[in-house]
Amino acid sequence: MSDISHDRLLIIDFGSQVTQLIARRLRELNVYCEIHPYQNVTDAFLAEFAPKAIIFSGGPDSVMRDGSPRPPQSAYTMGVPILGICYGQQVMMHDLGGKVEAGEHATAEFGRAYVTPSDTRIDMLNGWFLDGSGREQVWMSHGDHVSEIAPGFEVFGTSPGAPFAITADTTRNFYAVQFHPEVHHTPNGKTLYENFVRLAGFTGDWTMGAYREEAIRLIREQVGDKQVICGLSGGVDSSVAAVLIHEAIGDQLTCVFVDHGLLRKNEAEEVVSMFRDNYNIPLIHADEADLFLGELEGVSDPESKRKIIGKLFIDVFQKYADQVEGAEFLAQGTLYPDVIESVSFSGGPSVTIKSHHNVGGLPEKMGLKLVEPLRELFKDEVRALGQELGLPASFIGRHPFPGPGLAIRCPGEITREKLAILREADAVYIDQIRKHGLYDEIWQAFVAILPVRTVGVMGDGRTYDFACALRAVTSVDGMTADYYPFSHEFLGETATRIINEVRGINRVTYDVTSKPPGTIEWE
Ligand code: XMP
Repeated sequence: MSDISHDRLLIIDFGSQVTQLIARRLRELNVYCEIHPYQNVTDAFLAEFAPKAIIFSGGPDSVMRDGSPRPPQSAYTMGVPILGICYGQQVMMHDLGGKVEAGEHATAEFGRAYVTPSDTRIDMLNGWFLDGSGREQVWMSHGDHVSEIAPGFEVFGTSPGAPFAITADTTRNFYAVQFHPEVHHTPNGKTLYENFVRLAGFTGDWTMGAYREEAIRLIREQVGDKQVICGLSGGVDSSVAAVLIHEAIGDQLTCVFVDHGLLRKNEAEEVVSMFRDNYNIPLIHADEADLFLGELEGVSDPESKRKIIGKLFIDVFQKYADQVEGAEFLAQGTLYPDVIESVSFSGGPSVTIKSHHNVGGLPEKMGLKLVEPLRELFKDEVRALGQELGLPASFIGRHPFPGPGLAIRCPGEITREKLAILREADAVYIDQIRKHGLYDEIWQAFVAILPVRTVGVMGDGRTYDFACALRAVTSVDGMTADYYPFSHEFLGETATRIINEVRGINRVTYDVTSKPPGTIEWE
């Protein structure tokens, strides 16, 4: 549990796919919340957490099954408002004396539905049912349904499949809805959260300014007068973490920037000059391109590449970190989604599609303690914090870049020649995207150099050069993605520029695969 001293809302996770979105909606309202899997939420936990309000998430189970998830009973007696969503509604009704029935075809609902209000108005529904249609679109996803509401509750909204779509006990401030207000398909859902937190007495004090102050205090408290090392990748997360920690403890922080020779054009110089020259942060530039590229020679299997890079990264980091005398802490830019994933009761993704590379395992191996000042934040909050800390907007808004770098954008064997061509092509492509004002609309864009040479004709001569693929996607979190619909003019102009300006490429293709079934990177 964190030491954040704001009013806190607790989300008890019963395993819904969209629990994180509840947290997102609340953070957007400047309300501090944490998600905890139901197994961890005991009476003692609740008493210590002392939430100002509780939300029960949805979940895949059935309350009629013995042993299905429950909140601790003290949740109902501690005198704080509760909002139950989907399974959360059913569990609430079941616990408080109502009835839930197994889904039949007639009442199971999946997808869009419309809720109409009862005659009585309640504050929880302020801003709802106002657009003249007299109804609100909501997103349903339930098999079971409540068949009898608990004593003290009344119905304030119904849908064809859910006679108890919106229920409330306004005396106890318990609210329970069958649909999911957190998803985009419930367009007015945010208003419900707004109403709920307002009537629970939240003041919206979760701002980045407040977070920064508090994070600095906590870092100082944790670290004392000890030394901290931070692995800098040039990405937004580790950079924001480094600047924040530097603000807290100054020269007690040393950054280690491992340059594996798989960075983009000018990237190493930019990172070094920003941190060393602009911020005066002690920085070790570990130029280990020869080591990495040497070990990668002749390797073409994507997982082997990742494993080699991951292992070398740890070795190299350790070698340089050992030079920092008295280092006791390792700073990492771990974000909240990583934290939730690692405690998620469904155990996170069940299959490893790609073993993402990070410095996991390093702290134990080196006997270091972790400093993770971004553990409570989502990606866009990290960007807001970066802005608050004065990092340049162009830097904060940068597309994500994978740890293994260009290695996974170079399918097949990696050679210095291919990397040099790829860097140039990528630079032209990104320049095109910026020039056309598209950079911020796109979640991630890059070039992959393909392991194939094709024949072309330039001037009067025959060419036999590499083909490349342009990739650009829109996404919210990288978990799913759509390819970006560039105009043909843009694609044509970009292809021409790459072929004219980059020696070694004579064919340009555009990747129109979404994720799933593709992944964003080519490896
Ligand atoms: P995929 O290719 O899995 O990528 O659809 C999703 C997001 O993750 C990034 N990515 C990585 N990031 N280490 C990282 O730090 C990795 O090994 C790695 N592989 C993919 C990818 O760039 C995209 O943003």
